[in-house]
Amino acid sequence: MRIGIVSDIHGNLAALEAALAGLNLSGVDRIICLGDAVDPFPGSKATIELLERLAIPILRGNHEDYVVTAAELTEGTLKESSIEPIHVTPNWEPVRVLARSLSQEFIKRLKNLPLTLSLDEGLLSEVVFCHASPSSNQSGWRYATDERLNCELSAHPACTMVCGHWHMPETRVWQNKQLITCGSVGIPLRGRVESEFLIVERRGSEWHSNHGATIYDNTSTLEDYRNLGWVAAGGPLAWMLYDEVRTAQRRVVPFNQWLKTNGITQPSMSVLKEHGRQFLKEIGTWSEIAPYT
Ligand SMILES: [Fe+2]
Repeated sequence: MRIGIVSDIHGNLAALEAALAGLNLSGVDRIICLGDAVDPFPGSKATIELLERLAIPILRGNHEDYVVTAAELTEGTLKESSIEPIHVTPNWEPVRVLARSLSQEFIKRLKNLPLTLSLDEGLLSEVVFCHASPSSNQSGWRYATDERLNCELSAHPACTMVCGHWHMPETRVWQNKQLITCGSVGIPLRGRVESEFLIVERRGSEWHSNHGATIYDNTSTLEDYRNLGWVAAGGPLAWMLYDEVRTAQRRVVPFNQWLKTNGITQPSMSVLKEHGRQFLKEIGTWSEIAPYT
């Protein structure tokens, strides 16, 4: 059995089409999407529709949750106790921009996506598919301590766990479990503009991983993001996401670290923009972004 995995598409439809072509060339029996199919790029709705049309199961990643929360905040239906500081910061603007473009019916579809997927009863103890870990779509095993992994993973019956979330392909062994992380279809971060995917294969009683990637053309995704005005509307975080897709290099995490280093904890949008400009000037890519801000 060969299973193709796509994860962390983030609405980059051109990248998804390239990953699906790559998987079909490799020959797989079925395909599964591990979540973060949406947010922030304008192809988010078309991404879900394409996956649904191909009957590819979709898990609920943290970005599906972000979009649902942003929509509920706008509608005033989110419980006060569920509002966290992250949901109201100007740095969260790109998700609000996307959520405003989606219908209530679509938001409901995202909300109803499952957190995990197992293949069938017979394989329950062998493999589980999830976004970050079987118990959470926010925190997973990449930076977790042994103690944390013990809490999160040891009670789970599956010996092989397949996740996305980190945008960095990896296969590792922890105790008696194999932990496989799929790279990112839509926002790869290894400096090459390519769409990353994964094939997991059962040979005998063991599961093997094969990390793959296909070069793709990011022009339409970047054009759509600019032409809809979402780069400008989303503020500095949208600038960073645009530059991540343009270059396949990390921008969001280093920018958040920059803010922390400069003691910026609750910035207004104008302060955030000033720091976004300074950050991009320092790394030498401001001239690429400035015309669209
Ligand atoms: Fe992601």
